[in-house]
Amino acid sequence: MNTWRNLPGKIWVTTLSLDPRLRARAHGDAACLSPGEHDLFLAMGRYDLAHSMAVAARLEDDPLLHRAGLLHDAGKLRSELGIFTRWLYTGLELIFPALLRRICAAVEDKAAGGGSMEGMQVLPRGWRRGLYVQLHHGEIAAEMLARMGSEEELVRLVGRHQMEPRDGLERRLAEVDDAL
Ligand SMILES: [Fe+2]
Ligand SMILES: [Fe+2]
Repeated sequence: MNTWRNLPGKIWVTTLSLDPRLRARAHGDAACLSPGEHDLFLAMGRYDLAHSMAVAARLEDDPLLHRAGLLHDAGKLRSELGIFTRWLYTGLELIFPALLRRICAAVEDKAAGGGSMEGMQVLPRGWRRGLYVQLHHGEIAAEMLARMGSEEELVRLVGRHQMEPRDGLERRLAEVDDAL
């Protein structure tokens, strides 16, 4: 991800996140989701909600991609990923990317284990756990969706949205996501 390249998109999403009707609009958008997906989507913070709705709006022609757009960042759990960790990640990414890579590698080492949820739970609560969630939010959301019985294609698209795209669907989601 290159934060400078998608700055106009981020400014647009920040504007959308300030809309007082955002949550009401989100309820409308969530109508296409299963009850569990619906709750996971609406549990997101205002910024992630606005971003996800903007991504999904650009993918409306494909029902599967549209749902993946709504849910792809649902792994950025509000309880784990606070504003401090978000700024830490973005600040280091912009100013000290090599340091960020070293810190992330150390966090990954500490969390090494089974799935991403398990890796997260190994870490004590705090910024290291937040960084891990930031790094693995796609897989965390995918694990949650798989547990609630969402279809395989949706789980795959969400789980791989930060990885190198392997097909046209993954590429399209990644392109729209990167622009916002
Ligand atoms: Fe993401
Ligand atoms: Fe995203």
